[in-house]
Amino acid sequence: MKKVILCILGALMAQSLLAADLTGKWTVTTQGRGGQANETDYFIVAKGDTFTGYIGGQTPEAISDGIVKGNDVTFNVTRQTPNGNTKVAYTATITPEGLMLKAPAGGGRGGGFGRGRGGGFGFGNPPAPGAAAPPMQQLAKRVSTATPPPMPPIPAKIALPMPTTAVRSNGLAKTPPMGWNSWNKFQRGVNDQVVREIADAMVKNGMRDAGYVYVNIDDTWQGTRDEKGNIRPNEKFPDMKALADYVHSKGLKLGIYSSPGPKTCAGYEGSYQHEEQDAKTYAAWGMDYLKYDWCSASQVYEATSQPAVYAKMGQALLDSGRAIVYSLCQYGQQDVGEWGARVDGNSWRTTGDIRDNWTSMSTIGFDQQIGREKFAGPGHWNDPDMLEIGNGEMTDTEYRTHMSLWSLLAAPLLAGNDLRSVAPDILDILTNKEVIAIDQDALGKQATRISKDGDLEVWSRPLADGSLAVGLFNRGEATGRVTAKWPGLGLSGPQKVRDLWAHADRGTGSDAIWADVPSHGVVLLKISR
Ligand code: GLA
Repeated sequence: MKKVILCILGALMAQSLLAADLTGKWTVTTQGRGGQANETDYFIVAKGDTFTGYIGGQTPEAISDGIVKGNDVTFNVTRQTPNGNTKVAYTATITPEGLMLKAPAGGGRGGGFGRGRGGGFGFGNPPAPGAAAPPMQQLAKRVSTATPPPMPPIPAKIALPMPTTAVRSNGLAKTPPMGWNSWNKFQRGVNDQVVREIADAMVKNGMRDAGYVYVNIDDTWQGTRDEKGNIRPNEKFPDMKALADYVHSKGLKLGIYSSPGPKTCAGYEGSYQHEEQDAKTYAAWGMDYLKYDWCSASQVYEATSQPAVYAKMGQALLDSGRAIVYSLCQYGQQDVGEWGARVDGNSWRTTGDIRDNWTSMSTIGFDQQIGREKFAGPGHWNDPDMLEIGNGEMTDTEYRTHMSLWSLLAAPLLAGNDLRSVAPDILDILTNKEVIAIDQDALGKQATRISKDGDLEVWSRPLADGSLAVGLFNRGEATGRVTAKWPGLGLSGPQKVRDLWAHADRGTGSDAIWADVPSHGVVLLKISR
């Protein structure tokens, strides 16, 4: 018995004295959101029971404070975030298969595994709806026991000054762009067939005739570059030119997506150092719209370079000779409203990604657009992100609020649902002509919030014919009475009131209008003399 205890004690002591030597290269292989294999290499140099090292990649990350205690491993990773460098605490267990890494906590502040998007860490944007949750554990397999080379220097990020001249206006998007985008519903499931079927559906179900003309392919269409550096679509899109011809034959337009960085948000080929070439390719294919998404550009450019980087593609699109609507997507960073139009942006995202739920939609729509109205006007619009109407996680009442608010905000109206099988009530919401007319009003004035009384809000925008669009909103959980008084709206005297969801005239009021608005609902009015 004594002998056994001594043996165990001895073994325990030996283990603590002789910590496992982790020196070498350890590789984690994961499947990216685009289906491709992603490898992350951990280079480790051990000294007794401590170690240092780095994680490889475009921007290597230093590993410090590594400690091995039996099978338990802890270390820190210095990670760049938009707010500077953070030390992220990692833990791992030594197993017979390798090093089982546990995802560090910290969400968007550097937690989760890896950098970029979809892997638990992102610049400004949480992963897209439906994206796989970051794995809780990742296995790093040892591929070499050789002492790794020293950490390569972190390349300095490119700092470009604010351009001194504006890109000449492309003259497009005099009213907010309308159409459809693949991301919210299909994500990487988009392909040639889906796009064709959506185009067919938009003709059949009246979406096109209601004004939705852009059919926009979002992320995950990109393949590799040829020997001359020309971007090629992947196997999901056998022939982009043929697809554009098809979409055009339906009286619709086709849009595409890229990033100024080396990779897109889903890890596909970006336009970094191929900007002019890509713009020419898009034009040759017959593209009519480009969404240009910052994503991995944050790894090669200083954030303050955004105006110059976006101006470069703005100019390239102009020089391509084709009329291509230019949609900036950098989540509202760097006060984009101040320079978005100068780089020829026809719209710019103002927030992180929308989700199909009330909290996301209402926070973006009501809270994150305040004060931005001064930047919007014909040709250049604030973009609170694409529509979630019809994706199933909100009620019709909430979707009507979504549609009303986006129209008051003069936002691009890009449906994000599966238009091949759209329920009649959803189609009614998306194609309400009277509401679309507010969004598309020629004056191009974005609404402001006129009053807020707890959960009850009144928003209004002036229209080209001298009337006012007014939204009476209730963000609360119970029905509430919302009142809009003429002086607050800048009105006086008798005014005719029309209800744009009920399609009904409500008579004439002399000093105010009120309505009992259901929870999360809206009464949208047009008020005119
Ligand atoms: C970012 C954008 C989304 C979508 C995805 C694609 O998250 O904000 O709208 O384009 O990238 O990867």
